[in-house]
Amino acid sequence: MGIELIDVNDAAAVEQLLDVRLAAHQADEPDNPAPCRVHFRVSVAQPSDDEEIRFFGVRADDRVVGYAALHFPIKDNLHFAYADVFVHPEHRRQGLGRSLVEHVKTVTRDAGRKNINIDVVGVWENGPKRFEGGRALLESCGFKVALTSVNRHADITALDPAEEQRLLDESLAKSAEYETIAWHHRVPEELLPPLAQLNSIFLSQAPLGDLALEEEKLDADRMRKSGERSIARGIEVMGVVARRKGSTELAATSVIGVPTEPGDVGHQWITLVDPAHRGHRLGMRVKVENLRQLRVVRPKVTRICTDNADSNAHMIAINEALGFKAVDALYEYQADV
Ligand SMILES: CC(C)(COP(=O)(O)OP(=O)(O)OC[C@H]1O[C@@H](n2cnc3c(N)ncnc32)[C@H](O)[C@@H]1OP(=O)(O)O)[C@@H](O)C(=O)NCCC(=O)NCCS
Repeated sequence: MGIELIDVNDAAAVEQLLDVRLAAHQADEPDNPAPCRVHFRVSVAQPSDDEEIRFFGVRADDRVVGYAALHFPIKDNLHFAYADVFVHPEHRRQGLGRSLVEHVKTVTRDAGRKNINIDVVGVWENGPKRFEGGRALLESCGFKVALTSVNRHADITALDPAEEQRLLDESLAKSAEYETIAWHHRVPEELLPPLAQLNSIFLSQAPLGDLALEEEKLDADRMRKSGERSIARGIEVMGVVARRKGSTELAATSVIGVPTEPGDVGHQWITLVDPAHRGHRLGMRVKVENLRQLRVVRPKVTRICTDNADSNAHMIAINEALGFKAVDALYEYQADV
């Protein structure tokens, strides 16, 4: 059984990739929100211009039953690539997964890149059972865990309103010299340059364990395009930024994205406070204000998912205060090719 490069204009093949992805989700982590089909189809058809993506597939009876999506960043982090690998549950333990992992390692090396990363969901403490075969496969192919992130979910209908108000009041008292601006769908044009500047430091601020990643070189144009991509992929995006009164530079940001499916789940994306502005409870303030915006614009959302490095004590403390509870882990594996 050979590995082929999938033509992303072949609609039937793309639907088969999606079938593999959804079947793997159902088998491996059915209690987590299922991948959004709109997001999947649009991101295959209209990839980001920040990266090049190649899909490799393996077939059985002329259907794609396993695939690897290999991503090469092209604006920064040129030394690395990352991949997702999935095999349909009915076609596992036949060597397909191993052949896909070995293939993406070879393609990464031939492209002149040094590292490849592959994430895999796994068990965390007393959380639900997760498929562990992916970890065994990666370890037998020479990958090592570079970062462990913990996925947490919050039932946002369960948070005591009085406790939420207390957390917000406490943060307002400590950040009185700051103002916040909420945005929905698109980041206002005047905020794009300072937000690009703030987001650029993210990879040097978030704990990355042994992941070999450098800061991204973001600018207003990249930020604008990334926002338009989210909209095209059916994601409703909203955020809150903070700045010192009288300044145009941003001190903090927090963003939530709600995919079309399943429709009642939001994803907490970046939350970042510039190191020069820490100690004012801005992280809590932008998160709570954005949560309140979410309740108004998407009242059907009841659950928010987020993941943080297990070493990110400060962010985790904020999330736990807001009712987030650990579910499972995301093991970020890396290999030197
Ligand atoms: C991980 C995955 C891609 C493996 O696909 P596969 O085609 O079954 O893999 P292979 O048949 O090539 O198995 C390769 C190795 O994986 C490990 N493995 C796979 N399934 C396993 C299981 N149920 N229990 C223990 N180890 C397992 C073994 O080390 C196996 O080698 P062996 O058969 O020589 O013992 C597939 O199970 C899957 O899609 N899982 C969900 C997605 C995922 O975890 N992806 C990230 C990791 S690549």
